[in-house]
Amino acid sequence: MEPVTPCRLEVFRLASGQGRSYGDAMAKESKKMTSEGTPRFTIPGMTTEQGAQIARLLQDRLNALTDLHLTLKHVHWNVVGPHFVAVHEMLDPQVDAVREMADTTAERIATLGLSPVGTPGALVADRGWDDYSIGRAGAIEHLGALDLVYSGVITDHRAAIETTDDLDLVTQDMLIAQAGQLEQFHWFVRAHLETSGGQLSTSEASSEVAAARDAGGRAGAKRKA
Ligand SMILES: [Fe+2]
Repeated sequence: MEPVTPCRLEVFRLASGQGRSYGDAMAKESKKMTSEGTPRFTIPGMTTEQGAQIARLLQDRLNALTDLHLTLKHVHWNVVGPHFVAVHEMLDPQVDAVREMADTTAERIATLGLSPVGTPGALVADRGWDDYSIGRAGAIEHLGALDLVYSGVITDHRAAIETTDDLDLVTQDMLIAQAGQLEQFHWFVRAHLETSGGQLSTSEASSEVAAARDAGGRAGAKRKA
C-alpha cells in the first residue's frame, strides 16, 4: 500500500467531510472574490464610492488584459507555416508587455482599496466575450483573428479612458499609456494584413473565424499571383 502523503490526506479529509470546516471557509472566501462592494478606504481626494466605481471598471480591464496575454501565448504556441518564426517571435514581447499592464492594473485596484481578482474561474464568469476560437493555424490566419481581438480590447480601453475623465486622472493616465502600447501592437498585427493601397484584408470580418479566413485568403491569392 502506498504511503499517504500530507497532500493526499488533505484530499481524503475533504472528500470524506472531515475537512468540512476548511472547505466551507474556502467556499465562503471564494464567494468574496469579486471587486464589488465599497472599500473601507480609498485614495485621498476620492470618495469610497468613486474608488469602488474605478476599481470595478479596472477589474474588467484586468480581465481583458489577462485574457489577452494568455491568448497571445496560445497563438505563439499554435502558429504554423510560412512566417512562423517572425510571428512566433513577434508575440513574446507583446505577452510580456501585456502581463506588465495586467500587473499594474491589478495593483491600481488594490491601491483604490478593493481586491483585484486574478483567478481563471472568476475571469471566465465575469468576462463578456468568448474564448479565442482558433487552434493550430497559419501565421496570417492567426494575425487576422488577432486583429479583431486587439480591436475589442482597445475599444473597451478607450471607453474606460472616457469614463475616468471626470473621476480619476491618475488611473486615466495609466490607461492612456496602456492604450498607446496596445495600439502599436495592433499596428504590428495589421501591417501583415494591409495592402500597399492601405486596405485591410479583415475589414469585412465580424468574427475571428471569418477574419482568419479572409486574411488567409488574401495571403493565398498573393502567393498564387
Ligand atoms: Fe515560447
